[in-house]
Amino acid sequence: MRQEALLGFGALLGVANGKCDPATIQAALPKGASVNFAYPLAANATFEVPKSSTGYPTNAVNLPALCAVSVQVQSISNSTFGFGLFLPDDWNQRFLATGNGGFGGGINYVDMGAGARYGFATISTDTGHNSSTGDGSWAYQHPELVENWGHLAMHGSVVVAKAVTAAYYAQNVSYSYYSGCSTGGRQGLKEAEFYPEDFDGIVAGAPAWWTSHMQPWTARVALYNLPTTANYHIPAALFATINTEVIRQCDPQDGLVDSIISDPEGCNFRPETLLCGANANATANDTSCVTGPQLDTLYNIFSDYLAENNTLIFPTYWLGSEGQPALLTGANLPNPLGTDYIKYFLGKGPQWNYNDYNDDIVKLSDSINPGKATVGFDLSAFHNRGGKILSYHGMVDPLIPTSSTPYYYNHVQRHLAPKSIDIDSFFKFFLVPGMGHCSSTPAKMNAPWYFAGPNQQSALDQRVYSVPGFEDEDHDVILAMMAWVEKGRVPKYVVGTKYVNDTLHTDVLRQRPLCMYPEQAKYKGNGDVNGAGSWECESLY
Ligand SMILES: *[C@@H]1O[C@H](CO)[C@@H](O)[C@H](O)[C@H]1NC(C)=O
Ligand SMILES: *[C@@H]1O[C@H](CO)[C@@H](O)[C@H](O)[C@H]1NC(C)=O
Ligand SMILES: *[C@@H]1O[C@H](CO)[C@@H](O)[C@H](O)[C@H]1NC(C)=O
Ligand SMILES: *[C@@H]1O[C@H](CO)[C@@H](O)[C@H](O)[C@H]1NC(C)=O
Ligand SMILES: *[C@@H]1O[C@H](CO)[C@@H](O)[C@H](O)[C@H]1NC(C)=O
Ligand SMILES: *[C@@H]1O[C@H](CO)[C@@H](O)[C@H](O)[C@H]1NC(C)=O
Ligand SMILES: *[C@@H]1O[C@H](CO)[C@@H](O)[C@H](O)[C@H]1NC(C)=O
Ligand SMILES: *[C@@H]1O[C@H](CO)[C@@H](O)[C@H](O)[C@H]1NC(C)=O
Repeated sequence: MRQEALLGFGALLGVANGKCDPATIQAALPKGASVNFAYPLAANATFEVPKSSTGYPTNAVNLPALCAVSVQVQSISNSTFGFGLFLPDDWNQRFLATGNGGFGGGINYVDMGAGARYGFATISTDTGHNSSTGDGSWAYQHPELVENWGHLAMHGSVVVAKAVTAAYYAQNVSYSYYSGCSTGGRQGLKEAEFYPEDFDGIVAGAPAWWTSHMQPWTARVALYNLPTTANYHIPAALFATINTEVIRQCDPQDGLVDSIISDPEGCNFRPETLLCGANANATANDTSCVTGPQLDTLYNIFSDYLAENNTLIFPTYWLGSEGQPALLTGANLPNPLGTDYIKYFLGKGPQWNYNDYNDDIVKLSDSINPGKATVGFDLSAFHNRGGKILSYHGMVDPLIPTSSTPYYYNHVQRHLAPKSIDIDSFFKFFLVPGMGHCSSTPAKMNAPWYFAGPNQQSALDQRVYSVPGFEDEDHDVILAMMAWVEKGRVPKYVVGTKYVNDTLHTDVLRQRPLCMYPEQAKYKGNGDVNGAGSWECESLY
């Protein structure tokens, strides 16, 4: 029963009718599913993550009163996946699924806690294996586990958890939502593509949607800068120098000099200004200037990865991303998100050496498409059932190039236009200037990055609810999604917040609208540059 006309989002409606014990939960489960545990937690209690669960080991603290449940579900080829479910005493009658990260396998109880604070019955799936986010070895010669990770575990967890939720509260969920970033963003878009009935609204941040090309690119891009002894190698400290020069040249393009690059595509960056002069120490170890060979490396890193026939394999970073320690090109070895994928998802085996990388890897990856993880462009079924998607991407993301999201969006548009589907009617996305991967901002930018997106709460303090001081649909992406789905209020922007001290999250340093693509935020020319009201969203097209 939909009661949205009667209620504000804060209204707490549901009452826990069912008992919070294993027998009651088991009775609600379909064949092939069994309870791992079910027990009540009082208000302010801590959920202790089972020691054997290694993917997301952080305990969830100061929870609202809830029933903590975990269920194991049979999947293909004798495999299983598990999920955790928090059923809050003060239920908002709605369902929320949270996403995972990288190759990680495990239930993220901290993110479930963030959802439970809104009153959602909130789940997290373990995706069918136990591992940290950077470990892909579980996938070796186990296509069934890859299939669980790719799509089966999320969908199966959602279906079973909705049944448990309905039985526990003796009422079906009124609305169903998804919130995930990175691999979590990919999982959200994959749901929209494969299982359009699962969600009414999907928040998909920094989606790792092009698994079959992005993972090979992840290995490839690092090789431009390896080995570290090469004369073309750019050490991490020199990337910081390059970043300072990128900001000097590219920040003013957006009309305001504030260390935040809002329009990197509008910048014709010339790294030649950094060339070492005759009197400089012209070695690869100098951190104040770049040599000719290092300039080549820089051009390689900032070029899209193209096939021999000139088709795009994967788009590259946007300018401004180069200053961050997590940059894929800043390490001594390629990131395992690239090499573990090639060894274990593509079956090259543990002995495979990254120096043997070549473009045939991409062809192999396309032919296997492990776990059907890569998301396609046909979202028409999700559109047709009235679903909504809000996506976003940090503009200095050092892991997943920002440009991959506009690429996806533009290709979905290209795919749906012949079907007379207006993408803007159900799928919107916004860029977040100065935000890194899913959360946070470099200290020298201090950009407004917080909007209560997936994984963001724990970057402040996992105990926070919504956007402290601004718990409304203008500032909170989950509340914005609910307003769109339930009340038809179409989001034009989400206001990002930067606190003076994010951990304390009391005083606000600056706020700014994060505009829906292809609009960009423009300073009006007067008023406090740190106030959201001094900015407007402007279309360049
Ligand atoms: C909640 O628990 C914390 C310790 O985790 C404690 O410091 C705090 O006083 C408790 N608050 C309430 C309202 O019980
Ligand atoms: C199914 O999996 C269980 C647990 O991993 C294992 O003990 C059992 O041998 C497997 N059965 C088959 C038929 O592979
Ligand atoms: C992961 O570990 C947990 C805790 O030991 C266990 O219950 C679960 O079965 C494991 N999952 C898989 C897929 O092996
Ligand atoms: C929930 O929805 C299903 C399918 O529409 C329906 O069969 C069932 O009776 C509903 N359950 C409750 C408790 O309303
Ligand atoms: C060159 O190296 C010397 C010794 O390491 C250092 O003192 C000097 O500042 C360097 N010059 C430049 C231009 O970086
Ligand atoms: C840079 O320094 C490292 C460590 O001191 C050294 O091994 C390497 O050869 C140097 N590179 C160049 C190009 O001088
Ligand atoms: C170009 O090469 C890529 C990568 O090998 C391949 O996937 C694609 O089909 C090719 N396109 C054309 C038009 O031949
Ligand atoms: C922010 O506040 C926390 C908690 O009081 C404190 O530990 C930390 O040092 C502060 N950070 C900065 C940059 O001042």
